[in-house]
Amino acid sequence: MDLALPDDALAAALEALAADVARSAGRLVVDERPDAVEVAATKSTATDVVTAMDQASQDHLLARLREARPDDAVLGEEDGGATGTSGITWVIDPIDGTVNYLYGIPAYAVSVAAVVGDPSVPGGWRPFAGAVYNPVTDELFGARAGAGARLVRGDDQRPLSPTACDSLDQALVATGFGYAAERRERQGRLVLDLLPQVRDIRRAGSAALDLCSVAAGRVDAYYETGLNPWDLAAGWLVAVEAGAVVGGFDGPGEALTWACAPGLRAAFSNVVEDGTRRHLHG
Ligand code: IPD
Repeated sequence: MDLALPDDALAAALEALAADVARSAGRLVVDERPDAVEVAATKSTATDVVTAMDQASQDHLLARLREARPDDAVLGEEDGGATGTSGITWVIDPIDGTVNYLYGIPAYAVSVAAVVGDPSVPGGWRPFAGAVYNPVTDELFGARAGAGARLVRGDDQRPLSPTACDSLDQALVATGFGYAAERRERQGRLVLDLLPQVRDIRRAGSAALDLCSVAAGRVDAYYETGLNPWDLAAGWLVAVEAGAVVGGFDGPGEALTWACAPGLRAAFSNVVEDGTRRHLHG
């Protein structure tokens, strides 16, 4: 699908806005994190949880984005969104890695992306500016279309690039699992296929950070089935702009999202696409 992107001046302004709101929401979730985080509600299954801070972070992001960009739409993981007239939608995950947040594992992030197209249509949308912020490590992964991707920590800023890995049996591969038992069983079968073919597997617990890890060369590749647009929107852009390859069926999305160093493109996409067809869609 041919989706026209805004000009670079607007994209740069929206990248800065994404970074700013992701940072302020990230500080909120860390500063206000109680010693014992409680589950406020469950969603698709008993282990798909929402904490009070997921909703507070979403409310904060929504208010900041509505104030700065009243004509844009907002689609977020938690309750509350907005329709718009500008053709731009903010796709936001107020805490990606909620289970890590619940347990105090320092691998969660606020993910904010400006996209064109309809994020509810597989293959029908594309991010063009975004940021993923891990408030515990103070790492901000930012990108905009055509302008590369960077990691900002304090005053330090450096461009991101994936690894030079070009051999599947040397690849460190990140993945994640959904919340429903039936899906997890199928995902486990795919891992069983993959495990003997790669260096090792990692399951960090945040899809947004997994995509940024491919961008930063912290893993060689990542794949997952069952992702929502808010899990992947900003990380997809960061990975592509860093020079990684990102794909899936009809592009990255619920059916499959994969990302890898460019040298792994053919081998990795073949193995995860075949495995997904066999185990998840069979
Ligand atoms: C989840 C995380 C996790 C992934 C799940 C996502 P949430 O998002 O990104 O790593 O494996 O598929 O649902 O629920 O923490 O926002």
